[in-house]
Amino acid sequence: MDIFRTKSITIMEHEAKTHSLKKTMGALDIILIGIGVIIGTGIFVLTGVAAAKYAGPGIMLSFVISGITCAFVCLAYAELASMVPIAGSAYTYTYTSLGEGIAWLVGWNLVLEYSVGASAVAGGWSAYTVGLLKSGGIDIPLALTAVPADGGIVNLPAVLVTLFMTFLLVLGVKESVTVNRVLVAIKLGAIFIFLLMAGPKVDVANWTPFMPFGFAGVSAGAAVIFFAYLGVDSIATAAEETRSPKRDMPIGIIGSLVVCTILYIAVAAVMTGVVPYYQLNNAEPVAYVLRNLGYNFGSALVGTGAICGLSTVLLVMMYAQTRVFFTMSRDGLIPSVLGKIHEKYRTPHVITIIVGVGVALISGFTPIGIVAEMCSIGTLFAFVIATIGVVVLRKTKPDMERPFRCPAVNIVVTLAVLCCFYIMYNLAFATWIRFFIWSAIGLVIYGMYGYSHSNLHENNKPNQK
Ligand code: ALA
Repeated sequence: MDIFRTKSITIMEHEAKTHSLKKTMGALDIILIGIGVIIGTGIFVLTGVAAAKYAGPGIMLSFVISGITCAFVCLAYAELASMVPIAGSAYTYTYTSLGEGIAWLVGWNLVLEYSVGASAVAGGWSAYTVGLLKSGGIDIPLALTAVPADGGIVNLPAVLVTLFMTFLLVLGVKESVTVNRVLVAIKLGAIFIFLLMAGPKVDVANWTPFMPFGFAGVSAGAAVIFFAYLGVDSIATAAEETRSPKRDMPIGIIGSLVVCTILYIAVAAVMTGVVPYYQLNNAEPVAYVLRNLGYNFGSALVGTGAICGLSTVLLVMMYAQTRVFFTMSRDGLIPSVLGKIHEKYRTPHVITIIVGVGVALISGFTPIGIVAEMCSIGTLFAFVIATIGVVVLRKTKPDMERPFRCPAVNIVVTLAVLCCFYIMYNLAFATWIRFFIWSAIGLVIYGMYGYSHSNLHENNKPNQK
């Protein structure tokens, strides 16, 4: 059984050629793309949960830990993305470096990042929408706005927004650069309004004790709010479209991480400074803090900004999931009927609808905390494997063109892997169990279907290095 067969350079180059893209972007564009895909549920929802349950005001440090981890991962990722500039993200990178079996496992765990992550974003979207409607005098019963574990029947707004996004994706709606800029401006606007209104009300006494659950709590907080940085890997896929990848990629990646980390720390500092940390276990903490201060209009304004921001993150994550599945079906690892393209809209409608229904069901019935932790562990796993792939490819395919080379690759990859493991180690035991069960199911499916239907198997070319 050759589960280590890799995709050949020729196939990769062919795919890269057919996907050749215009090189129009600079570092600032990369930073804006980064902010567009990164800022979402993490800051608008999970900061409150993580501060209340794990880190207290020390959540500020949790953001630093997660941010540094992402910086290492992304530098490595950018090299892969510039070499293998085709759809499929970490799955594709692994297929070319560590082989099919591991690539499958990465692709399977990317479902946790994209689909399960999208569910968490839909949950956040629902919380802010329900809060906004409530402040406008429209009260939707809890039964229709909360998952069963939180005392409801179904989180209907989350289900509806997911189905709406599915509809847009089937029609082929994609975010343009201009739309992204507008949405980034709205998101940043919401954050600045929050900081300006609530900042002056900070009472530093609320920051003591700084780490009520010790450093272990800060680390656990980092594991939960790692979610806030998800999407960062998709910045790397822009490598092929940058004018000067060597210069623009590191500036773009580090730049967007620095901007997001500063904003995250600032929001966390203000939140925990205005309200005692244990009161923040709230589905819409940013709006809650402003309401608590009596700023109902400000709360509504920030809530609207958050809803816009969350909508775009949701669309991008669901889009990413459909493209990973599409690539997997093109490779024969999942049935090709799933990757069927719609005649009129030219989109992979079958897989898009399946993803949409799946995300809708998870967001309608699963608590956001569980969902976010599953998402973090799956993503961290994919990050570890894909970054190791960078070092492997330097050895196995040393002559391949690398428009962007990760600086001090051995050190950066080692640090990336260690940091990811550290964060994974701090996730709840139950999350690990769920992760193992999920991965085991994935391996069984690969054994029963993917291995024997893979293009590499069908073409009878076991190892095409
Ligand atoms: N980083 C994205 C968010 O926080 C996934 O919503």
